Amino acid sequence: MIDGPDSTMPSERAPCGKAYVSILETYLKGEGEPALQRAYEMGRTALAQGVGLLELARIHHTCLETLLACAASAQQRETILCGAADFFAECISPYEMTYRGFRDANSALRRFNSVLEREAKRIAHSLHDEAGQLLVAVYIALTNLTQDVPQAAGHVANIRELLDQIEAELRRLSHELTPALLKDFGVAPALKYLAEGVSRRSGLRIVIEGTPEGRLPEPVEAALYRVAQESLTNAVRHARATKVTIRFRQEAARIFCHIRDDGVGFDTELTTPATSERGFGLIGIRERAGSLGGTLEIISAAGAGTELVVSIPLES
Ligand SMILES: Nc1ncnc2c1ncn2[C@@H]1O[C@H](COP(=O)(O)OP(=O)(O)OP(=O)(O)O)[C@@H](O)[C@H]1O
Ligand SMILES: [Mg+2]
Repeated sequence: MIDGPDSTMPSERAPCGKAYVSILETYLKGEGEPALQRAYEMGRTALAQGVGLLELARIHHTCLETLLACAASAQQRETILCGAADFFAECISPYEMTYRGFRDANSALRRFNSVLEREAKRIAHSLHDEAGQLLVAVYIALTNLTQDVPQAAGHVANIRELLDQIEAELRRLSHELTPALLKDFGVAPALKYLAEGVSRRSGLRIVIEGTPEGRLPEPVEAALYRVAQESLTNAVRHARATKVTIRFRQEAARIFCHIRDDGVGFDTELTTPATSERGFGLIGIRERAGSLGGTLEIISAAGAGTELVVSIPLES
């Protein structure tokens, strides 16, 4: 790709050394703006074809060496160096624009995640307060019913017991949705609380190992909690698993979280962002980890269980 035979830059191909040096030479000879435009196009094509920035810099460096070796005087070398710097800047500007776009998209994603957290808080409060208010109204209605129809007292007592359970469950769900434990004490106690609730509701055995001892940055803790929450929901909804293990591992400035279930597994090809026609859970947690500079790896196959490996840098 670098030293192809062409002497001009075909727009549909990544840059080769000869094409690069040829356009650079026309620029140095004073062609000006049109040559810069071609440098920009060359950068755009290279980017589209997956040529890395370092590779492009290497091509530039090699061409520059060739041109400097042919220079007749110090002044000519100076002209080449200055011109080549402008030319190279133009060539890599598509990379710069892409990087800025990526940075903007990333901060939009982080803002979006904060909105999601606020929305979760709102729903949790509604569950807790508004549903709680409705339950109070039902309790009052039942009391009136017992007064009006004393012979229904036995049935009413049974209904009250069920309502007590519903109230406790609503309170627990609202706490799981936005756990105060996470904010106040970190990811370990919050996950323990979540796991107890999921385990009791579903019968799933959940083991948590190696939780981080100290506190992690708040967005990292929030992301790890949401990843575990989605994984447990998936294990209950899709996996038909009997056991889930959540294991943390800290290495240098990175936290890893492995979540493994012993369920039915699935074809991971069907859940890549480009192909997913199913839900948003896995895509959401991948993007959440990505917005913090992290990654999500999904290891699964039919009949072989599922393991999610999330890795997030701690400086994020
Ligand atoms: N632990 C798992 N075991 C088996 N299949 C899984 C597991 N996790 C995910 N899947 C499969 O991958 C699909 C996508 O999962 P994802 O969490 O993205 O969406 P969802 O759970 O279907 O819906 P949502 O999360 O949006 O409520 C699921 O529909 C399921 O088929
Ligand atoms: Mg899901």
